[in-house]
Amino acid sequence: MNYEQAIEKLAKAGQEHVMKYYDELTKEQKELLLAQIDATDFSVLSYLKHGRESAVNGKITPLASMQLPEIQEKEGEFRAAGLDAIRKGKVGAVMLAGGMGTRLGSDDPKGMYDIGLTKEVYIFQRQIENLMDVVNEAGAYIPLYVMTSDKNHEITARFLKEHDYFGYKSDYVTFFKQDMAPACDREGKVYMEEPWKISTSPNGNGGWYSSMYKWGIAQKAREDGVEWLNVFAVDNVLQRIADPCFVGAVITNGRECGAKVVRKCAPDEKIGVICLEDGRPFIVEYYELTDELMYEKDANGDPAYYFGVIFNYLFNINGLERIRERRLPFHVVEKKIPYMDEKGAKVKPEEPNGYKFEQLALDMIHELDSCLSFEVERNKEFAPIKNKTGIDSVESARKLCGENGIEL
Ligand code: UTP
Repeated sequence: MNYEQAIEKLAKAGQEHVMKYYDELTKEQKELLLAQIDATDFSVLSYLKHGRESAVNGKITPLASMQLPEIQEKEGEFRAAGLDAIRKGKVGAVMLAGGMGTRLGSDDPKGMYDIGLTKEVYIFQRQIENLMDVVNEAGAYIPLYVMTSDKNHEITARFLKEHDYFGYKSDYVTFFKQDMAPACDREGKVYMEEPWKISTSPNGNGGWYSSMYKWGIAQKAREDGVEWLNVFAVDNVLQRIADPCFVGAVITNGRECGAKVVRKCAPDEKIGVICLEDGRPFIVEYYELTDELMYEKDANGDPAYYFGVIFNYLFNINGLERIRERRLPFHVVEKKIPYMDEKGAKVKPEEPNGYKFEQLALDMIHELDSCLSFEVERNKEFAPIKNKTGIDSVESARKLCGENGIEL
């Protein structure tokens, strides 16, 4: 892209300020900036105006979940089917570790956070230990794909290597990077990180499969016979990964995907709620849930939207392939965005100062034909770490690890 083309693209997007320092840049910096302008999709900024209103478009109705009593009754059958698929190499696991963990406030990737009390226990380590339980039970390794971003790739890859992948066979670990999206201030103007660099942040966890494809990893997985991908967030330290019972339940029920869910502990709990939108599986994010849906009751007087997702999904790879080129919506998320101020000084804000634009993995569910909502016991499988203290924190996760006999 040349200078004139860049000016034209920026003018169309109302982002002319990006060129403010252009004349003062070195030749190399000018090239970097022009290349970034070329690569940046400014259309995501339009979600600032429309994002919130357009999040829920259709008619929302409850989706029946498979609940614990039924799962316990059929556990033997489900587990056998799941273990069979794992032993045949049909199941892969995808760890989403591209996030910035801004609420936790550590400069390092979230997975490098040490939650140990008497010894080192890193969040990454907890995930691998959980996965190893299944590897040991099945007697077979599960390919583990790790998604990082431009902001944390090198440090993540180095950390896992230095720790010898916490005992996981390195041949089964593959990294790939997600895409980035511009971040803007409250007026919709993109922030600058450097005079030659627009401030960007990872574009959410929804692009994981298209990024896997971009890196040639999805194709390789399919060639290797992988049929199912279990996608999970890095930050739930009680996460059961490639859980044979869950895998078997989704397979034997002939669904294209499955979502692990827990009973919400309060109507306004900050987790996405599983439901149907115009008859299709759908998840409403907590910040997009209306009060009406939040407090609606079913015929038994129970909350109609009782089950929340814990970011553990199983997807059929052919289904993912079918929807790969569909554009998922962007969600507007208020965040703390480091930037360069008018005088050129670097600022690291203490409070949210603008917006990031994120595609979410949960929106993929809506694109697929059928989803098994699969209940799990929250105290055994849900200990997310979003904050240092309080709800969903290092503190609460440590307590839950203790209750589950995990030494920290
Ligand atoms: P969250 O949405 O909780 O974000 O991610 P986060 O980055 O961990 O934390 P905050 O909101 O900045 O405090 C849920 C999961 O999705 C991954 C995260 O790494 C986590 O596993 N994620 C999130 C990505 O992989 N990429 C993203 O762009 C965003």
